Amino acid sequence: MVMCRMKSWIALWCVCCAFSSAFAGSGTTLREAFRDKFLIGAALNVRQVVSKDEALQSLIREQFSSVVAENCMKAEEVQPEEGHFDFTDGDRLCDLAEKNGQVVIGHCLIWHSQAPKWFFKDKDGNTVSKEVLIQRMKDHIYKVVGHYKGRVKGWDVVNEAIEGNGEFRKSPFYKIIGPEFIRLAFQFAHEADPDVELYYNDYGMDSPRKREAVVRMVQDLKAHGCRIDAVGMQSHLSFDTPLDEYEKSMEAFAAAGVKVMVTELDLSVLPWPKGNFGAAVETNFAYKQAMDPYKDGLSEEKAKELNDFYTKLFDIYLRHSKDISRVTFWGVTDGDSWKNNWPIHGRTDYPLAFDRDMKPKPFVQTIIEMAESGRYAE
Ligand code: GLA
Repeated sequence: MVMCRMKSWIALWCVCCAFSSAFAGSGTTLREAFRDKFLIGAALNVRQVVSKDEALQSLIREQFSSVVAENCMKAEEVQPEEGHFDFTDGDRLCDLAEKNGQVVIGHCLIWHSQAPKWFFKDKDGNTVSKEVLIQRMKDHIYKVVGHYKGRVKGWDVVNEAIEGNGEFRKSPFYKIIGPEFIRLAFQFAHEADPDVELYYNDYGMDSPRKREAVVRMVQDLKAHGCRIDAVGMQSHLSFDTPLDEYEKSMEAFAAAGVKVMVTELDLSVLPWPKGNFGAAVETNFAYKQAMDPYKDGLSEEKAKELNDFYTKLFDIYLRHSKDISRVTFWGVTDGDSWKNNWPIHGRTDYPLAFDRDMKPKPFVQTIIEMAESGRYAE
């Protein structure tokens, strides 16, 4: 009996040591280190929200000051059938965040992807009229924003409405309503909760033409008296992302009079399939061994490249911290990242701050020290 109790104490001590050794030397966490700079967040999936794994829960609680739902607040999840709303998982996320003292970001209201099929069709399967789609947008936004009033700090109101070449994406919203669907979405969200912050969110924001189009959109919204608090730069990055252009976009959005948010940060180390197919989440390519080079572990060289790239990124974020209100990683640990399955299913990627064993990568300590010491300014 005594032996048994001793064994469990030793086991507990080992678990504690393993966990705290992850942060040895710094004694602090991302959440603490960036406290006065910007919110630092993570996207959570439902499995993580309900997980009883105490190591995972303390990692989420200690490292992040903000959380966002990876999927469960999207239209196809929240309103799978017209008029039938399901807020169960989103409510669970809010409960967890409130327990942890974290800010919740709502993602996302109007997006062509992960929208339920019925949204754009009438009962005979024909495309709905402009009036009907506007009414559906209004009902959806009123109900969802209304439900989370007081619990969500801000919403990604419109996601991915602009193409890389600066043109409007020819989504069903655009085709049926025209470009004013963007303005209407912001207007409805503001009517539903005048206190909630409102954001435009998109990927590939290092593209100069996209940058200019987003700036025009912000100006247009403001000219029409709409509220817009921030532009979200998703930031699904690779080593090829031109950081000078990326930084120029941050500066351009800030100059347009909105805050900048890094909303879905991850950095893929894997090769990209040939061909120009954009970044549509529904795209998928067949698995090939050659496209999955780090299945058994990341090479030292690539690990260094990843740490260096993340350090450069946070140098940019810290230098612009007066314009940045949040930096959110798109996931907690590498094992949970969508990048393992997109654009090729079943690969092994290493895109996040914490590895498959929940250990922080070396850059985490580096950026904590940069934030605390102020050693980043040029
Ligand atoms: C986009 C969306 C996110 C998520 C990612 C892929 O960036 O905004 O909600 O679906 O794609 O995981």
